[in-house]
Amino acid sequence: MRLHTGLASVGALLLPFASAQSPGGTGSSNVSSSLGPDENGFYWVYSEGLSAAFNPYGASIAKLLIHDKYGVERDVVAGFDNATAYSLDAAHPHLGGVPGRYANRIQNSTFEIDGETYHVNPNENPTPDAPDGADTLHGGHDGWDYRNFTVVSHTNDSITFSIVDPDGDQGFPGEVISYITYTLTDFTWDFKMVAIATTKKTPIMLSSHTYWNLDGFANNETNTALNHTFYLPYSGQRVGVDNILIPTGDIVANKQGSVNDFWSAPKQIGADLQSSEAEGNCGFNCTGYDTCWIINRGQDGPYDWRAEGGFVARLQSAWSGIQVDVYTDQEAFQMYSCNGQNGTMPLKTTQGLVDNEDFPRTIPQYGCLVMEVEDWIDAINHPEWQRETKQIFGPGGDPYVLQASYVFSINDTATS
Ligand SMILES: *[C@@H]1O[C@H](CO)[C@@H](O)[C@H](O)[C@H]1NC(C)=O
Ligand SMILES: *[C@@H]1O[C@H](CO)[C@@H](O)[C@H](O)[C@H]1NC(C)=O
Ligand SMILES: *[C@@H]1O[C@H](CO)[C@@H](O)[C@H](O)[C@H]1NC(C)=O
Ligand SMILES: *[C@@H]1O[C@H](CO)[C@@H](O)[C@H](O)[C@H]1NC(C)=O
Ligand SMILES: *[C@@H]1O[C@H](CO)[C@@H](O)[C@H](O)[C@H]1NC(C)=O
Ligand SMILES: *[C@@H]1O[C@H](CO)[C@@H](O)[C@H](O)[C@H]1NC(C)=O
Ligand SMILES: *[C@@H]1O[C@H](CO)[C@@H](O)[C@H](O)[C@H]1NC(C)=O
Ligand SMILES: *[C@@H]1O[C@H](CO)[C@@H](O)[C@H](O)[C@H]1NC(C)=O
Ligand SMILES: *[C@@H]1O[C@H](CO)[C@@H](O)[C@H](O)[C@H]1NC(C)=O
Ligand SMILES: *[C@@H]1O[C@H](CO)[C@@H](O)[C@H](O)[C@H]1NC(C)=O
Repeated sequence: MRLHTGLASVGALLLPFASAQSPGGTGSSNVSSSLGPDENGFYWVYSEGLSAAFNPYGASIAKLLIHDKYGVERDVVAGFDNATAYSLDAAHPHLGGVPGRYANRIQNSTFEIDGETYHVNPNENPTPDAPDGADTLHGGHDGWDYRNFTVVSHTNDSITFSIVDPDGDQGFPGEVISYITYTLTDFTWDFKMVAIATTKKTPIMLSSHTYWNLDGFANNETNTALNHTFYLPYSGQRVGVDNILIPTGDIVANKQGSVNDFWSAPKQIGADLQSSEAEGNCGFNCTGYDTCWIINRGQDGPYDWRAEGGFVARLQSAWSGIQVDVYTDQEAFQMYSCNGQNGTMPLKTTQGLVDNEDFPRTIPQYGCLVMEVEDWIDAINHPEWQRETKQIFGPGGDPYVLQASYVFSINDTATS
């Protein structure tokens, strides 16, 4: 059990407030208790301290409800109010889904396996020479998080989705069959992603692409997440990238005190964004983070990724008091600080402030952050990293497996 000692008492403390009204809430607590989808097409899962709604589209998390330090229920992930909206949204910001079959970017939309070169669908950074794009992001223009998964099992505390990704889809070799299971236990969201290459060798890398705002977008002092505190205790290094965020092959040091240093101490997301070093840190003309940090734990000897205190990332908001500790078996961690948000994405009815003239009911730039557990990005184009067994899978070999646990608590002492 990874429950922090203080946590059980926090849970007990909050119970008397369990019926407190969420300010933006038009019934966030009024959820279907029966199995099967609710009237919005979402599947609800419950545990002590948490409830969550999942959507077959992209196997995405649509709502995650937790009570803040005042006992007010907050929905801390971005999304839409109903399942239909996800397929209609042209901007498709990969809201809460599973990017696949290969998350993040593939340089030049090509890779080689056993001497054979494969071309996959380009869908990012169009140029005159490459009008569809210079690279592939999140598995192509019809990647897994553009598809409706099948619900194979749904209980009060867990849901399993499956997908069959055919041979040749988006240009990838061979069929892949995958199962995504989300489970809620006390104050914890667990996920397990398994994928099997049934016919040919193929790259596989999955993740959860969830947008967080631990204030439920209801902070009445700021509508950004720049005051969230972030900590990556094992991440003294990151993957070096070019100005369209394609890995160069270099593994770069995050020197103490530099913009990308979140290892030496917890730091607010916005703490260094005024520094000139932050300009271009997330690509051409971009100030902020879209960074893949390396998780380096082996130096302390063998480790159990589930061991209490062994979180690889911690995100906190002093305003709501909500803290989430991320535990995972993965060896890289991407954080994107919503640099590209521009106030066009609406909040859900479960989020934001009611009748507040300062903050429109939309997500501004830096209004959220995405945290992704994954493997080293684009390692399929960097054999010198020697990660083939983590990224290339074939019939008869080991399956791809990703596991993570997001452990929530109330911590009033986050640096502010
Ligand atoms: C809760 O759900 C019931 C049944 O669908 C509905 O009649 C009621 O208005 C809902 N309450 C709120 C606060 O949304
Ligand atoms: C579902 O789980 C919640 C939280 O653990 C519990 O309060 C509730 O009674 C459960 N409902 C059913 C139908 O088992
Ligand atoms: C679904 O949600 C979207 C925005 O989240 C809203 O614009 C739309 O009207 C909703 N559709 C239905 C049928 O409720
Ligand atoms: C996914 O399912 C929803 C129904 O919940 C439907 O409206 C939508 O068109 C489907 N999208 C795709 C891409 O199949
Ligand atoms: C805001 O971002 C959306 C999605 O990327 C884009 O479609 C829209 O054109 C942008 N609007 C402005 C005003 O920049
Ligand atoms: C990029 O891919 C194209 C084929 O799609 C190939 O002709 C070209 O040489 C590749 N460029 C690099 C730098 O690998
Ligand atoms: C802001 O929200 C906090 C927490 O809900 C509350 O204590 C405070 O009074 C609010 N401030 C304003 C100016 O509304
Ligand atoms: C955000 O943090 C900065 C210090 O990094 C502080 O000056 C500011 O008051 C904080 N704002 C809010 C709304 O907490
Ligand atoms: C850089 O970004 C700013 C703000 O997003 C924009 O106004 C400007 O046009 C961009 N400059 C270039 C050269 O793209
Ligand atoms: C609460 O947050 C502070 C500041 O980041 C940290 O030092 C402390 O360990 C946290 N407490 C718990 C129980 O997680």
